[in-house]
Amino acid sequence: MSFDYINALQKKPTSRTPIWVMRQAGRYLPEYRATRKQAGDFMSLCKNKELACEVTMQPIDRFDLDAAILFSDILTIPDAMGLGLYFSKGEGPKFSNPIKTLKDIENLPIDVNDDLSYVFDAVSTIKTALNNRVPLIGFSGSPWTLATYMIEGGSSKTFANTKKMLFNEPKALHLLLDKLADSVIVYLNQQILSGADSVMVFDTWGGVLSKQNYLDFSLNYMAKIVKGVKAQHPNTPITLFSKNGGKHLTHIADTGCDGIGIDWTVELNVVQAEVGDKVAIQGNLDPAVMYATPEIIEQEVKKVLSQFKGNTGHIFNLGHGITPDVDPENMQVLVDCVHQFSKR
Ligand code: CP3
Repeated sequence: MSFDYINALQKKPTSRTPIWVMRQAGRYLPEYRATRKQAGDFMSLCKNKELACEVTMQPIDRFDLDAAILFSDILTIPDAMGLGLYFSKGEGPKFSNPIKTLKDIENLPIDVNDDLSYVFDAVSTIKTALNNRVPLIGFSGSPWTLATYMIEGGSSKTFANTKKMLFNEPKALHLLLDKLADSVIVYLNQQILSGADSVMVFDTWGGVLSKQNYLDFSLNYMAKIVKGVKAQHPNTPITLFSKNGGKHLTHIADTGCDGIGIDWTVELNVVQAEVGDKVAIQGNLDPAVMYATPEIIEQEVKKVLSQFKGNTGHIFNLGHGITPDVDPENMQVLVDCVHQFSKR
């Protein structure tokens, strides 16, 4: 089996630039909204392997995408650790038992794979449904990003409690991050055993840290994850994505990961000059381009493609997730443009 997506990550020849899109299965698709309604709520959708498989396949059936991504969420691990995840309308994810003290951290279980069997069941169900059409990406959140949700009790603009712990009780935060890294390692390894062909770590909030704190509190633990996954699965590509991580790319590339995800605030040619041949690069169209006309989308796709030098090592993606109010027709335009203008 030879897939452009895997080949690009491994710097092997590709027939064209592969593309997948973060949040490709989601609310911009009417068929997603219908299945979500049938499931009742978001977590019930994640926990039902047939429905999770159905929504994973929806964008694959509709567009000529080069990879599927497991339909799940990064907050499955803290939920399995007992924090009580729920989604409140308009406010996003919430935890009923957020982390407050060192004692809370000490009491957290590490290997929660038994409670996450629904994720591994979804992976193997999707793998069978894909029937090798395209590879399957598994994922988790980064320890730092998971810790922010666990300590804040949900989304945050300031990360006040997490940063308070970072400065006042760094040892407690390091213990939490280290436990999370160990949980993520066994979680990703089990996703791979269940059928994931590559894995990605989403570090949505690494970019809110100063350089040294990013290295110590975020990248350090992602590097541990890369090591722990590579020890079990040396040939499975790993991508690290720190949103707003443009200033840290050489350090990210030094972790031994195979790919780095970049957002639209850095230019591909600049990134390529910095990281050289060490890693593949995933990105990085501004997600807001998806609101523009087909002509503008085409023009912006050509710009991104022309910034990358070489015939492999680029995986086209948006710089962050596709937003719920995008017209699905524009996704078609995006995928077709990337393939058409990158034919070798
Ligand atoms: O990319 C994909 O298609 C795979 C599925 C996926 C989801 N969430 C589905 C989802 C992935 C990879 C995630 C990751 C995730 N979840 C992140 C990292 C994202 C990144 O790009 O940096 C974060 C921060 C979360 C936590 C979370 N889950 C948030 C903030 C939300 C949005 C809440 C809202 O009301 O908008 C979710 C819910 C969620 N996860 C949705 C989807 C499709 C929307 C749920 C719905 O209402 O149907």
